[in-house]
Parts: sequence; structure tokens; C-alpha cells
Amino acid sequence: MVKVYRSKARLEITASDIDAILASSRRHNEDAGITGMLLFGKGYFVQVIEGNGPAVDRTYRRILSDARHGDAVLLYDGSGEPRRFGCWSMGFSHMEAHSHVASVAHFLQHDHEADPYGFGPDVTLALLLDFRRICSGSGAVAAA
Ligand SMILES: Cc1cc2nc3c(=O)[nH]c(=O)nc-3n(C[C@H](O)[C@H](O)[C@H](O)COP(=O)(O)O)c2cc1C
Repeated sequence: MVKVYRSKARLEITASDIDAILASSRRHNEDAGITGMLLFGKGYFVQVIEGNGPAVDRTYRRILSDARHGDAVLLYDGSGEPRRFGCWSMGFSHMEAHSHVASVAHFLQHDHEADPYGFGPDVTLALLLDFRRICSGSGAVAAA
């Protein structure tokens, strides 16, 4: 099963907040056989979690109840698919690292409060594909 969601950070998120989120994510995800990736930028998170159905559901519920973010929108919910991020118990990247992609650069340069649709499906897909290149480039392949 694969879930992809986008959420808004509730507080000012610092590098140490990200470190803490990633440390507990990687610990739990390794135990639960979850892989995926997390992106952060301009106060938004985008995350992919993949693994067996019950483990993904449990993890997603725990993540949704985390007070560090809110307004989660489930963008994709699929089953029976291969893992796309099998090389990471939770990969992480800042959106700024993907600003060579035109739609991402556009999103980063514009005031998203004034343009709620600025962070649309095109930006999300571009981010996921660009991040996935790094994972596939490592040569790691994992079955669902
Ligand atoms: C944006 C975001 C993404 C997260 N991703 C995961 C995740 O992939 N796996 C996970 O177990 N916890 C994740 N968490 C953390 C959980 O919400 C929760 O805090 C954590 O699992 C509790 O772990 P601990 O108290 O054992 O350290 C995430 C939190 C946030 C804010």
C-alpha cells in the first residue's frame, strides 16, 4: 500500500525538529517494514509512506495525530503497487534542493498564502519524481 499526503507545519519547524521527526520515523519504520520519503519547504510537508496495508494505516494514523502539523490532505491512496522509495526507511529532502525543476522553483518563489493553488498536483508530482531519481540512482530495488 502507498499513501501520499500533504500537510502544513503548525509551528516554525527547525532543523532539530526535522532531525527528531526523522529519528523516530526511521526507528518505527524499520520495525514496521515501512519505506518512503519526506519533503519539507515553505511550511509544507509532503510524505510518501509505503509498505503492507495494516502497517501503513497504523503509521498514517500516528502521523496524523502529531501536533507538529495539521490540515493533512491525502493526495494518493493505492494498493498492490511496487515500492518507489524502497531504499529509505524515510528519505528526506528540502524542497529548495529541487528548485532546478521549473514548477518547484515557481512554487518556492511565490507567496503561497496569496495563491493557495500554487502547491498543486504538478508541483507535488515534480517533487516526487525528482526525489525518486536519487533513490533509483542508488540502484536499490525492493519488492512491495
Ligand atoms: C511530517 C511528519 C512525518 C512523520 N513521519 C513519520 C513516519 O514516517 N513514521 C513514524 O513512525 N513517525 C512519523 N512521524 C512521527 C510521529 O508522528 C510520532 O511522533 C512518532 O512516531 C512517535 O515516535 P516516538 O515517540 O516513539 O519517538 C512523523 C511526524 C511528522 C510531523
